[in-house]
Amino acid sequence: MGWTDLKISRVGLGTWQFSETWGLVNYDAARNVIAKAIEVGINFFDTAMVYGKGLSEEFLGKALKELNVPRDDVVIATKIPGEFLNPDDVFRAVDKSLKRLGVSSIDLLQLHWPPCWHNYPTASYARALERLVAIGKIGFIGVSNYPVALIEELRSYFSFTDIVSMQYRFNLLERWAEVELIPYAEANDLTFIPWSPLAKGALTGKYTPENPPQFTDLRSGEAVFYLENFKKTSDLINALKKLADKYSKTPAQITLNWLLKYSPTMVPIPGAKTPDQVLENAGAVGWELSYEDWRLIDELSKSIKITYVTW
Ligand SMILES: NC(=O)c1ccc[n+]([C@@H]2O[C@H](COP(=O)([O-])OP(=O)(O)OC[C@H]3O[C@@H](n4cnc5c(N)ncnc54)[C@H](OP(=O)(O)O)[C@@H]3O)[C@@H](O)[C@H]2O)c1
Repeated sequence: MGWTDLKISRVGLGTWQFSETWGLVNYDAARNVIAKAIEVGINFFDTAMVYGKGLSEEFLGKALKELNVPRDDVVIATKIPGEFLNPDDVFRAVDKSLKRLGVSSIDLLQLHWPPCWHNYPTASYARALERLVAIGKIGFIGVSNYPVALIEELRSYFSFTDIVSMQYRFNLLERWAEVELIPYAEANDLTFIPWSPLAKGALTGKYTPENPPQFTDLRSGEAVFYLENFKKTSDLINALKKLADKYSKTPAQITLNWLLKYSPTMVPIPGAKTPDQVLENAGAVGWELSYEDWRLIDELSKSIKITYVTW
């Protein structure tokens, strides 16, 4: 992970799915997903304080305990929301997170998004976070959804540590992060963690514009599934399906492999609702798209212009 000695699997597991928002609120179902991840060699787990208001952290901590996974065998990454970055609340929020996860230290604490509504001074929460690293309650600090200028400011306030990772929306349909953020991660030896790497399922090929999905979860408001946008994805999805046949893989695996080939700093964290999805997503690793096929997808993907003005 980043410039550290920590070894993380090439693909991690996103666990936002364990929440009302995504609909997986049954502990046994979540445990099965986590068990499969461990079984196939995934050791990097991404959760957040806000996912199910702590439910995801609770499920993850409980399952890892029940599955007797040695603490050092996994890297637990959680996130603190911008609203909790008031320096006093940083300690309170991390204490609660540690309790929910049932651990004595968080391997990676990511700043989920900047405190845009509250304007807590960057210097003050940087200091609080660094105290938690000094005391050993946090292993490393990462950022998510932070612009480069604010990352620079944050880093300037650390006295002995630095960030190790950057987490942003990045997938074949939504590539804004490649302009400034991915180059910044590469230049600074930081792990780049793309969230929604499958565009929330749109890139798996199971949903089609001809038969558009009727979601009851957060995806009912997701721009990529807005019909005007989703229709634009047909050529890309058909190409993913063709390549899936050619490589004896699935469209999801082609999609994730494209990300892995994009940059060695890239560690996608696809969310999964079933053990089969975990298995499939882990199968994105250990083989490589040819340069020509990587380029083919690259070009098709670049030609798609998603609009976020959906109402
Ligand atoms: N930092 C941030 O602000 C932020 C924001 C969003 C997400 N994240 C993190 O990133 C993770 C992943 O992002 P995401 O959950 O938004 O989107 P995603 O990983 O692109 O999509 C996940 C969804 O795709 C479907 N899916 C997954 N694997 C599949 C497979 N092999 N075959 C078919 N369908 C499959 C599943 O839904 P269905 O089966 O219902 O289709 C699953 O819930 C989250 O869990 C979370 O940890 C972070």
